[in-house]
Amino acid sequence: MRSPKDFFAPLAVGAPTPLREVPARPSRVIHFFDPSNAKMAAKVPAMVGTVDVLLGNLEDAVRAARKEAARAGLVEIARGTDFGEATQLWTRINSLDSPWALDDLTTLVTEVGDKLDVIMVPKVQGPEDIHYVDRLLAQLEARAGLQRPILVHAILETARGVANVEQIAGASPRMQGLSLGPADLAADRRMKTTRVGGGHPGYLVRQDPVDGDINANRQTYQQDLWHYTIARMVDACAMHGIFPYYGPFGDIQDVVACEDQFRNAFLLGCVGTWSLHPVQVEIAKRVFSPSAEDVAHARRVVAAMGDGTAAVMLDGKMEDDASLKQCLVMLELAERLAA
Ligand code: GLV
Ligand code: MG
Repeated sequence: MRSPKDFFAPLAVGAPTPLREVPARPSRVIHFFDPSNAKMAAKVPAMVGTVDVLLGNLEDAVRAARKEAARAGLVEIARGTDFGEATQLWTRINSLDSPWALDDLTTLVTEVGDKLDVIMVPKVQGPEDIHYVDRLLAQLEARAGLQRPILVHAILETARGVANVEQIAGASPRMQGLSLGPADLAADRRMKTTRVGGGHPGYLVRQDPVDGDINANRQTYQQDLWHYTIARMVDACAMHGIFPYYGPFGDIQDVVACEDQFRNAFLLGCVGTWSLHPVQVEIAKRVFSPSAEDVAHARRVVAAMGDGTAAVMLDGKMEDDASLKQCLVMLELAERLAA
């Protein structure tokens, strides 16, 4: 069977912007750990091969007094661990307006730059933040003699960052992807929530009254607080050929709502999410992998569509060039995940 690439290449009109051919790859699950927490750090080697990304977090959730310890812990873990082919090592540095970001970048690139795949930059406000990190990385990589560029991932967690999302996504060829940071974003927007991601029981629409009786029992429907931002982020990433991700889901016990939130993000175009606890790893891997049924259906459409143009009927439904492209997106992701 022909691969999605064989189809997308001749489809000069209307094919999605190709994904960057930098050594970026989709990662369904970015698993966060605190390198200053000895108990958590000890579990890292056993997780190699079980998650797409292990991310040593230096920013929020690490106590200010432990920032140096976290940085040193990450250097030690990076040096002492073979991450193999299946798992990448990322870090989340402190924000660029903090006293730690420069030392985070300098130390990590100098000491373990050969092990680091992606640097996640929090609270990115605009392309200037990415330009700063990009130039600094270029100097540090040259000094360390690194052969492979370290990629950059930005968290969208300020109102200004959301307003500048297209420029951020296209700010450097190092850009690997963007994540939603719902907790910081909620605070920056002065939303009246107190959670890390997910929904809110008060964010509702109510069914119209029947016969004008507003006191009659009426259905309410909870709305997704993050739809607008995820959709903007997905569009910016698609435009620049990089990967969009959901972010943290803080209610570790509510695996059902977590799965729903992850699935919404997947359906809207995200390729993965963060996991804050091992229980979220399996959910993320399942949700962000195209299902066997979707892949089988996509293959049938590709087979039925011949040269990829015109319309055919399959199981009573019309398929055409556009539904074929959706199927190719599904198959391309399946291929990338299998690679
Ligand atoms: C993540 O960093 C968030 O603020 O949600
Ligand atoms: Mg944040």
